Amino acid sequence: MATLMRRYGAGARWYDVLSGEKWVYRAGREAGIRLLRPRRGDTVIDLGCGTGLNFSGLLAAVGPEGRVIGIDRSVDMLAVARRRVEAMGWHDCVRLVPADAATLDPGDVVALTGGRGADAVFSTYALSVMPAREEAWRRVRAAVRPGGRAGIVDMQRPHGRWRALEPLALLACATGGADIDAHPWRLLERDAVDPGAVERAERKGGHLVAVAADLGAAITR
Ligand SMILES: C[S@@+](CC[C@H](N)C(=O)[O-])C[C@H]1O[C@@H](n2cnc3c(N)ncnc32)[C@H](O)[C@@H]1O
Repeated sequence: MATLMRRYGAGARWYDVLSGEKWVYRAGREAGIRLLRPRRGDTVIDLGCGTGLNFSGLLAAVGPEGRVIGIDRSVDMLAVARRRVEAMGWHDCVRLVPADAATLDPGDVVALTGGRGADAVFSTYALSVMPAREEAWRRVRAAVRPGGRAGIVDMQRPHGRWRALEPLALLACATGGADIDAHPWRLLERDAVDPGAVERAERKGGHLVAVAADLGAAITR
């Protein structure tokens, strides 16, 4: 855990350049937002938002009347996210919450939505680095209103003719502290109101998996 904190601490300012965003990981977040289909005016929680690489895509969908609530435990990653928000003039649209999702009080997030709960939760490449991902997911999901939507984008081993790239994928995950075999989208497949309506896309030889679905009834906060 201390290593993880260092990884997303001092290294935060280099994250956008060194994380492989341009060549690899942007494709997953774009696929995820497409499947999530946020609507105008929605409030979307970005779980493990890091430096805020999802914000522009989410805000483009929810419009000026929508909101993004970025939650992250790393104050250094959030500092980069804050600079992005300031540079882009998103002060009215983005709230940044420094919190460990595994111990978060969902009520604190619900309070930021005026008490009704968020319309959706989105998480990219974050649940696979959280050892307590099931608890983090349960708590953040509890801040989504009944009938809300969720999207998870994360990593797995590439397959088919892309299998030869597995060592590179493993190296990328080890560098970021991610468990490539965590497959955290299974939490969403489990919680979907209609398992038959779960939407899924793969990118980069199957290394990136985006899953989105409508959630069932709200769970206990
Ligand atoms: C690989 S980065 C992904 C950041 C961003 N979602 C993206 O797509 O670029 C993982 C992020 O999860 C955050 N994180 C890890 N464990 C967390 C936890 N328990 N609660 C909140 N954030 C956490 C880290 O601080 C880091 O910013």
